[in-house]
Amino acid sequence: MTMEKQPNQKASLLAAMNRNALTLATFAFVSVGLIAITHHLTKNKIAKEIELSLLKQLAIVAEPTSYNNDVYKDCLMVTDINQPEATTGQKVYRLRQNNSNVGLMITATAPNGYSGRIDFALAVSANGSILGVNVLKHQETPGLGDKIERNKSDWIKQFNNLPKGQFTNVDWQVKKDGGKFDALTGATVTPRAIVSAVKRSYDFVLKNQLELFEKPSDCDANLVE
Ligand SMILES: Cc1cc2nc3c(=O)[nH]c(=O)nc-3n(C[C@H](O)[C@H](O)[C@H](O)COP(=O)(O)O)c2cc1C
Repeated sequence: MTMEKQPNQKASLLAAMNRNALTLATFAFVSVGLIAITHHLTKNKIAKEIELSLLKQLAIVAEPTSYNNDVYKDCLMVTDINQPEATTGQKVYRLRQNNSNVGLMITATAPNGYSGRIDFALAVSANGSILGVNVLKHQETPGLGDKIERNKSDWIKQFNNLPKGQFTNVDWQVKKDGGKFDALTGATVTPRAIVSAVKRSYDFVLKNQLELFEKPSDCDANLVE
């Protein structure tokens, strides 16, 4: 048998519900406020760190004294030609000295490393030579594929200062496949993936160089999403 609630019981129940709703709303309001304040306080610091990491990366592949523009803000989003199905694009940073074009640094991805994608940065000078390549992110095997990292071997330096037209399409392969690039001992899959992705990105830059220098900036500088 259910008992009908008395009016004063109903009223106190309602009052308790109101109190709980108010407590919850206050808690949510304070939390959102705290998040907003934290975001505001840290956003400049984060932006500065991103800028420093970009400049550090650039210094590896391009001579820092060769450009004097604010590269951090001179940035463009383009479609990743190495993975046209990808939803995220790649970034192009423009290097300029007193407003004349010096070079482009493009972020790109080799989709077919031994353990998945390998993100890298490629710098190309305004005269079309490759300045250098540097790996930004990968999951290749320690002791094998990870020798693509600059601090683990000199393998990636094969791309340093390659003049435009130095290599034919056939040359742009690892030696095992008939090209000019060394592989790594016991690890051909990783170098193969990088050589072909660098070639595709390089061809893209050469083909679109003028447009890449001239289009208005449209992205933030975060190197790796
Ligand atoms: C556990 C394990 C991890 C491996 N990791 C890599 C790697 O990170 N990169 C790579 O190129 N090959 C790696 N290899 C070797 C490849 O399977 C392959 O034998 C090698 O790249 C040579 O390829 P190729 O036969 O096409 O020349 C690994 C093999 C094993 C068994």
